[in-house]
Amino acid sequence: MSKIAIIGTQWGDEGKGKIVDILAEKADAVIRFQGGNNAGHTLVIDNKKTILHLIPSGIFNDNAVCIIGNGVVIDPKVLIEELKTLKNAGIDVSPEKLKISSNAHVIMPYHITIDIIREKKKIGTTGRGIGPAYEDKISRKGIKFSDLCNKEILKEKIYNNIEEKNLIINFYGGEKLDPEQIFREYSEYSSLLTDYNEDTHKFLYTLTEQDKNLLFEGAQGVLLDIDHGTYPYVTSSNTTSGNIFSGAGIGYNQLDRLIGIVKAYTTRVGEGPFPTELKNIQGDILRENGGEFGSTTGRPRRCGWLDMVALRYAINLTGIDALALTKLDVLDGFDEINICTAYSVNGEKFDYFTNDVKKLEHAKPIYKKFKGWKGIDYSKISSLSELPEEAITFISAIEELAGVPVAIVSVGPERNAVFFNSELW
Ligand code: GDP
Ligand code: IMO
Ligand code: MG
Repeated sequence: MSKIAIIGTQWGDEGKGKIVDILAEKADAVIRFQGGNNAGHTLVIDNKKTILHLIPSGIFNDNAVCIIGNGVVIDPKVLIEELKTLKNAGIDVSPEKLKISSNAHVIMPYHITIDIIREKKKIGTTGRGIGPAYEDKISRKGIKFSDLCNKEILKEKIYNNIEEKNLIINFYGGEKLDPEQIFREYSEYSSLLTDYNEDTHKFLYTLTEQDKNLLFEGAQGVLLDIDHGTYPYVTSSNTTSGNIFSGAGIGYNQLDRLIGIVKAYTTRVGEGPFPTELKNIQGDILRENGGEFGSTTGRPRRCGWLDMVALRYAINLTGIDALALTKLDVLDGFDEINICTAYSVNGEKFDYFTNDVKKLEHAKPIYKKFKGWKGIDYSKISSLSELPEEAITFISAIEELAGVPVAIVSVGPERNAVFFNSELW
């Protein structure tokens, strides 16, 4: 271990939570640096499933301190629920174990109302207030976590914001919100959360001075990045590697490895172009076998083959130096498996990704075909070399086409259903 970051390379839900949970065994701190409770990161430990939305996926490891960095937007109600659930399960969520950046921003009820009400003009957001909360941060009207922890400032900021927010809500035909009611509710959250307030940059800097092992946990995926994704069908934060540094408050020299998580096929929740989407029985099989229903909203995920054009883009854009390939087991049973290696747009061939949505909407995938495998009991396999020959060929092809090695292969939701490429660890 050393200082590792993991990010999603597709449209989210690649299995980041599971990989972070495993790597966290050797980490001294696990840090979320962007996004909010639009994320749903699933861990399955001893048959018990937990979905984390805000708390880093290292929380089940006794040694790792969990940090919610300044780049995250926090819905305090969701955070308190998550803390309760974990506490009831016997997990330590004390302020010694969890630290929240005083510079993180808070999601307010008007953010959620505006997000939901605007959804009539569909992006397919999670409706959690993420976009409107980041809007306020950028336009310098936001309420920081440190403001939540100071009731006088909290009240003043709610009153300063509410008139404008009610105008927006009114514009969309919604009902006005009462600032006093918001203050009363958030005042309770303030009392419950104040002990978690921390200068997390300073805390992390101290850890780096002691050369501790850090693990950074990305949310969403590269193709949902606000600048580099399929805009406007994206989330409202940078999901790419630059935001590890600004969203956590560390220097660029504090990272040794960047691992991209890639599902053995592709999924997407919400609207937007998806060149390899399978709107047929094969897509249905991927959804059923992979349990592809949103961890946050429960929506069925759109499914399709692995898109190497998009994966190469994600790697080149971020500097990913190795991949963790997840959900390989879900491909079990297909006679033929496809990887998209280029697009054809109006008869013209493209092998480099574009975030020109109009072009992507017309992109037809050009596939390289692979022989499938079936009937494997993955629990009986103890190393990568024991995988069926066809699966090994598929993994090698991904390495060759992507230009980076596969360092981890995951073959089931459980913590132990994973193989490490021993040459890379
Ligand atoms: P994240 O948002 O990237 O953390 O991913 P999600 O938790 O939203 O979605 C991944 C889903 O796949 C979860 O239900 C995981 O339990 C599950 N999962 C993770 N890795 C594997 C795997 O290798 N095989 C199978 N079958 N399921 C997996
Ligand atoms: P994890 O971390 C998959 C998608 C939404 C929508 C778009 C904008 O679990 O991989 P937002 O609410 O962020 O404004 O919605 O982004 N989206 C995700 N899709 N996984 C996620 O997180 C996502 N977070 C946001 O579905 O299309
Ligand atoms: Mg998810």
